[in-house]
Amino acid sequence: MLQTAQAHNAQQTDLAFQQCINADCKATYDANTIRTSCDKCGDLLDIAYDWDRAAVPNKLSDFEQFWSERTNPVRFSGVWRFHELLPFAPQDKLVTVGEGQTLLQQTDRVGDYVGMNHGQLHLQYEGMNPSGSFKDNGMCAAVTHASMMGAKRAACASTGNTSASLALYCSATRLMKAVIFIGSGKISYGKLSQALDYGALTVQIAGDFDDAMLRVREVASELGIYLVNSVNPFRLEGQKTIMFRVLESLGWEIPDWIVVPGGNLGNSSAFAKAFMELKQHGLIDKVPRLAVINAGGADTLYELYERRGVRWNAGRVVMDPIVDYNDKMDREHIRADTIASAIEINRPVNLKKCLRALDFMDGVVRQVPDQDILDAKAKIGEGGFGCEPASAASVAGAKLLRREGVIAPSDRVVCVLTGHELKDPSATVAYHTSDQDVFNKTLGSRGVTKASYANRAVAVPNELDDIIKAIQLYS
Ligand code: F0G
Repeated sequence: MLQTAQAHNAQQTDLAFQQCINADCKATYDANTIRTSCDKCGDLLDIAYDWDRAAVPNKLSDFEQFWSERTNPVRFSGVWRFHELLPFAPQDKLVTVGEGQTLLQQTDRVGDYVGMNHGQLHLQYEGMNPSGSFKDNGMCAAVTHASMMGAKRAACASTGNTSASLALYCSATRLMKAVIFIGSGKISYGKLSQALDYGALTVQIAGDFDDAMLRVREVASELGIYLVNSVNPFRLEGQKTIMFRVLESLGWEIPDWIVVPGGNLGNSSAFAKAFMELKQHGLIDKVPRLAVINAGGADTLYELYERRGVRWNAGRVVMDPIVDYNDKMDREHIRADTIASAIEINRPVNLKKCLRALDFMDGVVRQVPDQDILDAKAKIGEGGFGCEPASAASVAGAKLLRREGVIAPSDRVVCVLTGHELKDPSATVAYHTSDQDVFNKTLGSRGVTKASYANRAVAVPNELDDIIKAIQLYS
């Protein structure tokens, strides 16, 4: 059984520390410091714990006791009800706006499209979070740490969802002011409107996400602003809980595959850390395989992992092919370009952690063209689960892996739907439109030539007879 909240709280002050992921460095730092890279070697940091002193449950089903404590906001949260598995802050410091009330949906309609046996395809529907994307899982953790550090301002670069999430947490809690960096013309209106409405200071950089990411790191360090991008290791702690909820929904059984879109690679990194720790605690005996899906127009991970053979290599990543590829992108002015604007990223900051994830979870990487992303998105919508284009990359990727025979029809597959349908209505409307100009303008330039699953609006004159005729004809 788990300990009482009081006993548990007393333990929380010094359980966590920060640790460099580089096997030749492994430097450690106090959890009560603000950093997004290792001082000694510049590599990424993990949050590590002295688990021997932590109140880890004996079995995962012990967490079910918290289902009856839903009047406590911390236990209502789909993140903090797993607090014992991310114990870096005491209970009374945890920030929540009710994140993580998400569902794992089994769907044969989408399963048929992917080519799965009935009962085997599941969609982890993260669009149900307060800001409409999975980002809230990590943002509550980052804002918790930021407020413990006394931060008055928090910043991020974003393709739109991180910024919407940060803006929401800042306005809802009034703990700090949000400063967000976005690329020019690179963010969907749904997401931009959230940041503006929630009152974030919105800085539009003349460049894309990769430019904004570089700048926000400089600015955060220069002005001492707390950075909440996924280079922040506390944020990724919160994102581990997406996997805890998947297991919870499956009655604590382990699926065969987790399929996730890859952008800045925070999710894939966090998911693997979740499974590494569950394995270490003896709470699971099997680990699912991981498939990270890039958009074809933003496929750095695919290029490095599948084409150039870059590997985790026990924490000693050989950097030459990565440096070479970055140089090539500079030389040839290769910029990310995809309708899946959330993952329009060519220099993923969590690359090394994702390599570790692929190593631990026997992973594969694939890239899917915008055509496949939009077709998959239409099929997901038809199945009753709207999502934004980036999210649909997971289903398009699962379909590809089924076709290749990498995923078997009898495998139990979980595709993560990372963001809500209403985040990017322009992409949806452009796919379903009968106006060829709108279609060409939005999608044609990205190699999308057809909308095989379009549900077109029927145009009729404003005459009763015509309206009735049209309904009889089409229904
Ligand atoms: N799906 C959606 C809807 C996203 O917003 C993002 C990332 C991803 C997938 C990729 O996840 O970075 O963990 O690999 N969006 C970030 C943002 C970059 O700024 O909102 P990842």
